[in-house]
Amino acid sequence: MKLHTRHTLTALCSVLCWCVFAVQRVESNDLLPAPTLSFDSNVNQSSITLYSNIIVLCTIPTNARMPIEIHLSKADTANTSTPFMSKKQYSLKEVTFLLKVTLDLEGSFVCWYSGISSKLQSQFSERLNITISGLSDPIMLLYPPAFPVGAKYIAQCETPAIGYENTTLKLYDRLLPIRLGKDNFDYVGSRVLPPGDWGAALHRTNAGETYEYICEMEVFLNGRTLRSRSKILTAMPEELPVRLIPKDSGSGSCYGYAFLKVRADWRPLCFDSTFYGTVNVANVICRELGCGYAIDHERISYKFPDAIGTPNCTGNEKKVAECPLVLNYCKQGTLNVICSATLHTPKLSVSEHAAASRVYIRTGESVTLICIFESTINEHAYITFTRNGNEIYTTSTRPGYAQIYTIHDTVPDGEYACFVHRQRSSTYKTENSNVIGIYIYDPPPAGAVAAGVITTLLGVLILVLLCVYRGGSS
Ligand SMILES: *[C@@H]1O[C@H](CO)[C@@H](O)[C@H](O)[C@H]1NC(C)=O
Ligand SMILES: *[C@@H]1O[C@H](CO)[C@@H](O)[C@H](O)[C@H]1NC(C)=O
Ligand SMILES: *[C@@H]1O[C@H](CO)[C@@H](O)[C@H](O)[C@H]1NC(C)=O
Ligand SMILES: *[C@@H]1O[C@H](CO)[C@@H](O)[C@H](O)[C@H]1NC(C)=O
Ligand SMILES: *[C@@H]1O[C@H](CO)[C@@H](O)[C@H](O)[C@H]1NC(C)=O
Repeated sequence: MKLHTRHTLTALCSVLCWCVFAVQRVESNDLLPAPTLSFDSNVNQSSITLYSNIIVLCTIPTNARMPIEIHLSKADTANTSTPFMSKKQYSLKEVTFLLKVTLDLEGSFVCWYSGISSKLQSQFSERLNITISGLSDPIMLLYPPAFPVGAKYIAQCETPAIGYENTTLKLYDRLLPIRLGKDNFDYVGSRVLPPGDWGAALHRTNAGETYEYICEMEVFLNGRTLRSRSKILTAMPEELPVRLIPKDSGSGSCYGYAFLKVRADWRPLCFDSTFYGTVNVANVICRELGCGYAIDHERISYKFPDAIGTPNCTGNEKKVAECPLVLNYCKQGTLNVICSATLHTPKLSVSEHAAASRVYIRTGESVTLICIFESTINEHAYITFTRNGNEIYTTSTRPGYAQIYTIHDTVPDGEYACFVHRQRSSTYKTENSNVIGIYIYDPPPAGAVAAGVITTLLGVLILVLLCVYRGGSS
């Protein structure tokens, strides 16, 4: 019985082993069928640009046994070198390889696959040639993006990305308006980019005329030269007027979003809390508009897509155009400015003394000061009362609402006034109101006055009596 079992097992095993052996023999004699290698449908083989990304597809024959590992190799070294890229695949018959088009990618590729457990290999696919035939265009930029007559600026040509090698940038310009027969660009200069660099800059000072710039990029690549050209950049000195547009579309031009006119468009100015010069910018805007000085500025977190940047003002400029524009600082929002002309100087009065500028009160008598202001903006603000220029009391208010401040008991002598400000701190404030002097004047006590009156009356009576007596005797 035991013997019989062993016989059966041996027989079974030999059949199995023979089968496995037979399969292996068949497969090692003939390589697995070849896959096909092709470009993804989005790739135009005749216009592959340097440093772009392309996708190639390796398609496995439908009868291939999974799981497999798919390899992409340079055709010339596919037999000897490790593959360029490999991917494991358990079910899909189509595998994508994403390739960044660098200089060393040029050449012929093949793809092939191998069984993960069997280690059997396929034949190579047909060759697929990757030839770099173009460059992305270089970019011309203007720093600052807009400027007035007499300013300086930089026209800069940049590679479309960082990391271009063996690259030369050539800059050309022409003066506008174009005169007859002189419509071509003049060569200005060129720069061979050292490794890691990406731009060539032309500095122009005392800008007066309008120029157009164009730049050409040349890349020396595997024995040939590829070229591309930027779009034309126009550099024109401008007036660059500024304006404020109220956020509530209310009346008035002395508060609101700040816009700068560049060519035909009003472009928003940016606000960013990391830019420390915003107070200066706000002041220059108000000055240019004849709106006094800035009493407040804030960020409107809404970001306009066509924002132009931030003027970098020292605060002494007459116009925003004199402040060089800085391109960044547009991450947080749009600049909103409130100028002093929107808040009228407040009026101070003393209760029961209407229009007086000097008020006399007695010791111990209380005094009620009244301060009121008008504004084109119906937003809350603060009123601060002062004595001899020193702040004594601050309260929140709105335009048109009288704020009162009562001083009880001993009212100190002095010159009282009030002013309005938009924030609790009074960094920005209106002019002071009218000044009212308050003085203590205590008249003599009532008894003394009565005694004086009686004495006078008595004197008059005696005089009268004397006259009557003298008249009678004559
Ligand atoms: C592929 O690029 C060539 C050269 O730039 C162009 O002539 C052709 O029209 C392009 N083909 C497609 C399908 O976009
Ligand atoms: C790779 O090896 C195969 C045979 O295994 C041969 O037919 C083919 O020519 C070789 N390819 C190269 C590029 O050497
Ligand atoms: C691919 O490039 C090789 C040279 O590297 C060339 O012999 C072959 O004809 C090219 N194939 C195609 C389809 O362009
Ligand atoms: C750059 O050009 C030099 C020859 O001028 C060449 O030897 C080198 O390989 C090139 N570099 C690249 C990345 O093509
Ligand atoms: C603004 O201008 C000053 C010089 O007036 C300069 O030091 C500063 O770096 C400039 N700020 C920016 C953000 O360009």
